[in-house]
Amino acid sequence: MATLHSQFDTIINRKGTNAMSLSGYRGYLFEVDEDLCGKYPEDEFIPMWVADMEFAIAPEIIAAMRNRLDHPLLGYSMVANQDYPLAFQNWCIDRYQWKFNLEHLVYSKGVVPALFNLIGLICKPDEKVLIVTPSYAFFKHSADYNGIELVCSDLINIDGKYQMNLADIEEKASDEKCVLALFCNPHNPTGRVWSEEELLEFGKRCLDHNLTIISDEIHCDLLRKNQEFTPMARLFPNSDRIITCMAPSKTFNLAGNLFANLIIPNDDLRKRYSDNYIPIENPLSIVAAEAAYTRGREWLSQLTDYLDSNFHYLSEQLAMHLPHAKVVIPESTYLAWVNLSHYSNKDENLTLFFARKAGVLLEGGEMFVTNADGYIRLNLACPRARLEEGIRRIVKAVLEMG
Ligand SMILES: Cc1ncc(COP(=O)(O)O)c(C=O)c1O
Repeated sequence: MATLHSQFDTIINRKGTNAMSLSGYRGYLFEVDEDLCGKYPEDEFIPMWVADMEFAIAPEIIAAMRNRLDHPLLGYSMVANQDYPLAFQNWCIDRYQWKFNLEHLVYSKGVVPALFNLIGLICKPDEKVLIVTPSYAFFKHSADYNGIELVCSDLINIDGKYQMNLADIEEKASDEKCVLALFCNPHNPTGRVWSEEELLEFGKRCLDHNLTIISDEIHCDLLRKNQEFTPMARLFPNSDRIITCMAPSKTFNLAGNLFANLIIPNDDLRKRYSDNYIPIENPLSIVAAEAAYTRGREWLSQLTDYLDSNFHYLSEQLAMHLPHAKVVIPESTYLAWVNLSHYSNKDENLTLFFARKAGVLLEGGEMFVTNADGYIRLNLACPRARLEEGIRRIVKAVLEMG
């Protein structure tokens, strides 16, 4: 019998599927007309940028979607009963010992659309939003879109372990115009899973200064084997100012289904959010999400084994071929955050460099707001053979850099 591991080894051609990883990079990574002509033709580029996976989704999820298609109507649909909410709530109880109130659960077409909406609902035009940096770029984009000033607190990298600068955060949070923190746990791009102690320190500082916190926990299920995840809201059961964002999209490779969970405990904010949100969901997305949370556990465990081994492979290869590259296996996510500053020029646009010289699409530090010079973020959620070729090309390009 074929093992699930061999399923993750399969290279699946995404050409002709409207995949963002193959068709969307010109808009996101480069100026549209930028000359990418380099060593490799674009149809041989290896995509290691956008955060989705090159793996087939769990058979249980495909079966649920097929089953739904046996019913020949795909009219307007909504989360109309408790099956899905209970499935998701049970997932959080089982895995994170967190029982959120079902009445607080609402939906979104994704975490990013939720951020764009919520910032506008929470912040007045002259107010500010706090983030830690480096940061997922859409935290900045969502503040910019709403015309809200961004306040950045740089993380500190101590021997490869990123830590928050709590004194700086305290000072920035104490600005009365700073009313919202966008927090990422597990953190993209560094892969940190913040400990309970760190979450308490950060949360207390924000809440004491009356900030609302949006805790983006979209990467929480993708833990390395020895890690534990704590939802921030679990630590502050008496606060109604922590909004939690979770989704099956990263965990189960369902990003194209456009379906995410928001837990908004504050009644007034939840009402204002809901007044702004048309609660029509894709019927296939609802059954896929329910199948994921009820029957996806075993597949996820196999996936995390595979990812763990991809991370070990990357570490070994870098140690062997680029000994001055610094990489720490992240505590969660399938994203590797690699410091290449020993090899690269401070001003080098690494995204462009690796597209041109290695034919690898990745995200250089300049894509992560600030505090990320000399880094690249690599998506390791791909079959091993693809990873081997990607790393081989990256190593070669770096060695030819000087
Ligand atoms: C921290 C974080 N939040 C949100 C998203 C995207 O969420 P969605 O696809 O649900 O909009 C990503 C995707 O990379 C992410 O890394």
